[in-house]
Amino acid sequence: MSSPSQPRTLMCPPDHYGIEYEINPWMNRSRGADAALASRQWRHFYDTLVGLGVRVELMPPQPGLPDLVFTANAGLIFHGMFLSSRFRHEVRARESPHFDEWFAGAGFRVEHLPEEMFHEGAGDALFCGDTLFAGYRTRSDATAHQWVGKFLGVRVLPLELVNPRFYHLDTCFCPLAPGVALYFPEAFDDYGRRVLHTHVPTLIAVAESEADRFGCNAVVVGTTVIHNSRCPKLATDLTHAGYRPIEVELDEFLKAGGSAKCLTLRLDGEEAAGWRYGP
Ligand code: ARG
Repeated sequence: MSSPSQPRTLMCPPDHYGIEYEINPWMNRSRGADAALASRQWRHFYDTLVGLGVRVELMPPQPGLPDLVFTANAGLIFHGMFLSSRFRHEVRARESPHFDEWFAGAGFRVEHLPEEMFHEGAGDALFCGDTLFAGYRTRSDATAHQWVGKFLGVRVLPLELVNPRFYHLDTCFCPLAPGVALYFPEAFDDYGRRVLHTHVPTLIAVAESEADRFGCNAVVVGTTVIHNSRCPKLATDLTHAGYRPIEVELDEFLKAGGSAKCLTLRLDGEEAAGWRYGP
């Protein structure tokens, strides 16, 4: 049984994970992924979250849906409501009926965006404080973010993602607490950087070599930050800022363009405190 304050997140075991198509610059079908290693890395990450007190719920894996492991893209959770994503690529749009079914079964109110716009859920829309920071261009549409802002009644700050390697907002921006976030400056244009500096007083810049290791794609549990391995500068900067970094090796998932954050979807909502669990 979980206590009301116990953080809850959704993950999907990587039984059918693999590189079967190429929809972002990280994916290379001929290089593929090592299934046994991916499974060990995923399991270690899962155990780490459980060890930190997170209640991890599991989505049943489905054959033919290799990216279903990236639950962050299922949709956006807001006060017991699941706003289902509209994926830009058909290969991922096929995941939506499975997510919709899981969320309906778990007691969420399932809602959909209008058909003519794309939105890739918590991968592109992250609360920092009560503002929704919204990445657009490669996957989600700016119009979809405006629609979401109206639908939820929240302030949305759209940020154009100008670097195709950082195609979802959660690959280059990670709220740690209201007013505090990690970011990779070169993923944004001058205007986006200005928006971030204006609205997030404490921004910790991640170096390019570590952003390339998906250092920004971190999961925050209270003041603990779980991020991909071999990001030493990030770990030091987090420690100096009062956080406890934990490294997990998720390199098999980097091959699909994802890491820790992409493999989770917070179920108890990000709206109150940003991507932050606990007190
Ligand atoms: N291969 C997946 C895609 O391109 C990776 C998704 C990563 N998810 C994320 N939230 N950044 O759609």
